[in-house]
Amino acid sequence: MTAMSRPVLLDCDPGHDDAIAIMLAAADPGIDLRLVTTVAGNVTLENTTRNALRVLDMVDRPDIPVAAGCDRPRVRALSTAASMHGDSGLAGPELAEPSRSALDAPAIEVIEQFLIDADEPLTLVATGALTNMADVVERLPHLRDRIDQLVIMGGAVDLGNWTPAAEFNIWVDPHAADVVFRAARVPGTGRPDDGIALTMIGLEVTHRAWLADEHADALRGTGRAGRWVAELLDHFVGFHQDRFGWEGGPIHDAVTIAHLIDPTLVTTLPMNVRIETESPLCIGRTVADRWQVTGLPANAAVGLDIDRDRFVTLLMDRLSSLA
Ligand code: RIB
Ligand code: CA
Repeated sequence: MTAMSRPVLLDCDPGHDDAIAIMLAAADPGIDLRLVTTVAGNVTLENTTRNALRVLDMVDRPDIPVAAGCDRPRVRALSTAASMHGDSGLAGPELAEPSRSALDAPAIEVIEQFLIDADEPLTLVATGALTNMADVVERLPHLRDRIDQLVIMGGAVDLGNWTPAAEFNIWVDPHAADVVFRAARVPGTGRPDDGIALTMIGLEVTHRAWLADEHADALRGTGRAGRWVAELLDHFVGFHQDRFGWEGGPIHDAVTIAHLIDPTLVTTLPMNVRIETESPLCIGRTVADRWQVTGLPANAAVGLDIDRDRFVTLLMDRLSSLA
């Protein structure tokens, strides 16, 4: 990768929008995607891992290793989003078998080795349940100075999308999210020992980051990868049109990568965020102190808005550039 590219480890649960996030990371010269780890969430760990390998095949990146992480949340039973993504996790296009296998070692051990070996602090991105990231917090405290920051897709200041109160990634494993947010600090403040610099890209941002039929059609003729994305979008956009009556499908996870490529796209505000882990009604809610009524210190930079036009232009440009 180029001298100015940012080294990134991406933990994900592909998933249509995770797949597009991987492809954006692979396509942009400013991102040095060094490792993809997988977690159970959208679908089972077996399928999220197989899908991560498939996506990397689609972008011709056999050099990027994949390591499988946790196959279930910390406390709750696994509840997937197969109703949205299909049992495979990538409903829509034809899915070839992956050309290779994931590494034998579990994700946490591979992440540890990458952090140890890195020539500079690494950026962690998580676009699924935070089960693997909670392991990083608890099992790798000695490597905090090797982590530049953690950017997650998850949560919401306002309404949820999987329950009225909770966004899916946090809802799947609220106990893991609680561990991560308790160990977090606002980027640009404090030191690694004070916590992991955390940016939360939530639904206020990602619900504006949608693509529609026109975008699928524009990608369809750009090559093998573009056609594959178009077929992912045919399913994902169609689902959101039918289920919610929306014009397009929100490409939630790609916003984390776009934020790293161009930090001016997403507007963030430091906030205190706590996780509801007990309420049967509101479990998985990110309780974000938007108006600073608790007096508690901010522990994350929380996304509030996005320059939608520039996001779509960036995403479409990079996806169109894939072979
Ligand atoms: O709520 C949206 C999130 O849940 C996205 O990461 C999507 O892939 C699912 O994991
Ligand atoms: Ca995801």
